[in-house]
Amino acid sequence: MQISQALSLLPAMGCGTWAWGNQLLWGYNESMDDQLQAVFNLCVSNGVTLFDTGDSYGTGRLNGRSELLLGRFAREYQGINKEHICIATKLAAYPWRWTRQSMVLAGKASAQRLGRNVDLVQMHWSTANYAPWQEERLLDGLADLYEQGLVKGVGLSNYGPKRLQHVHQKFAERGVPITTLQVQYSLLSTYPVTELGLKEVCDRLGIKLIAYSPLALGLLTGKYSERGPFPQGIRGLLFRQLLPKIRPLSACLQEIAQSRNKTMSQVAINWCICKGTIPIPGAKSVEQAQENIGALGWQLDSSEITALDQAAASTDKKMVQNIFQTQ
Ligand SMILES: NC(=O)c1ccc[n+]([C@@H]2O[C@H](COP(=O)([O-])OP(=O)(O)OC[C@H]3O[C@@H](n4cnc5c(N)ncnc54)[C@H](OP(=O)(O)O)[C@@H]3O)[C@@H](O)[C@H]2O)c1
Repeated sequence: MQISQALSLLPAMGCGTWAWGNQLLWGYNESMDDQLQAVFNLCVSNGVTLFDTGDSYGTGRLNGRSELLLGRFAREYQGINKEHICIATKLAAYPWRWTRQSMVLAGKASAQRLGRNVDLVQMHWSTANYAPWQEERLLDGLADLYEQGLVKGVGLSNYGPKRLQHVHQKFAERGVPITTLQVQYSLLSTYPVTELGLKEVCDRLGIKLIAYSPLALGLLTGKYSERGPFPQGIRGLLFRQLLPKIRPLSACLQEIAQSRNKTMSQVAINWCICKGTIPIPGAKSVEQAQENIGALGWQLDSSEITALDQAAASTDKKMVQNIFQTQ
């Protein structure tokens, strides 16, 4: 299969693995690994074959843990769709990574942790807003990974339309296509599409838009209530603030979910799919993965989408945008 063809087969939905390796933020611990293998197996056997990770997922003792686990899970999986497994990683623009070669080495280190080639390598964020001198060399290194045949495709993350078009032009001069762009996109984070116009730009440039945090970190699942209990840490603080402000949106999601015999998570994920994006919800348990897979195989109708759009637009408190999101 041609390199470009391989990634044009990206499924309608993927699975995020940020939580798989992050102890402080998400409460991950090694006793969860068997359960995560079961999540992986369930996803792949149901045709959810795109997995998103990053070389910064897992810190300290758990450095690189998410990539290590994904590689192991992919090796151990023996069911259908094995050949379609697509592992997308993101290379962090760490301040100590500032040469072209450092990106090539980072890509090779990810491949080593995965125990296989990276399918899609993504620049995790742009340094354009705070260290513009750093970025060009990192981008050169990203394109080198593609040219050297070490990855099947290249993507970006947290780029706005201006930066995206700049990189598109730069890579086009080397004949390196951009396959995907991932941004925070959900009913509580419509900004990249409604205000930055990224979907239109991506469509024009032939780039697939990946929606990360499509469940707004769990806020759109309906399982958290204003009275608590809340998740630990900053997520809990955010939920305390946001839950009272998003009542109309939660009510709209719940109403549609009930009338369709679906869950709120399924409706929230399906909305992302209806908007032409590839959502990558993070699932920590087989139950969550099973539920999220139920977002596939059906479509909200136009009146439901309009109702959700209106509820989202009238919500005055939204998700905080990633500080690295550029214009
Ligand atoms: N490019 C970037 O800068 C960037 C940034 C963030 C994320 N991402 C990617 O996007 C992926 C997904 O985003 P995310 O994990 O931040 O947010 P998310 O997908 O919006 O939320 C995931 C969390 O929601 C809860 N959940 C998921 N499915 C559920 C279900 N069916 N029922 C109830 N609860 C459910 C789980 O947390 P609890 O069980 O604890 O509630 C889970 O960890 C990440 O894994 C990562 O790959 C990329």
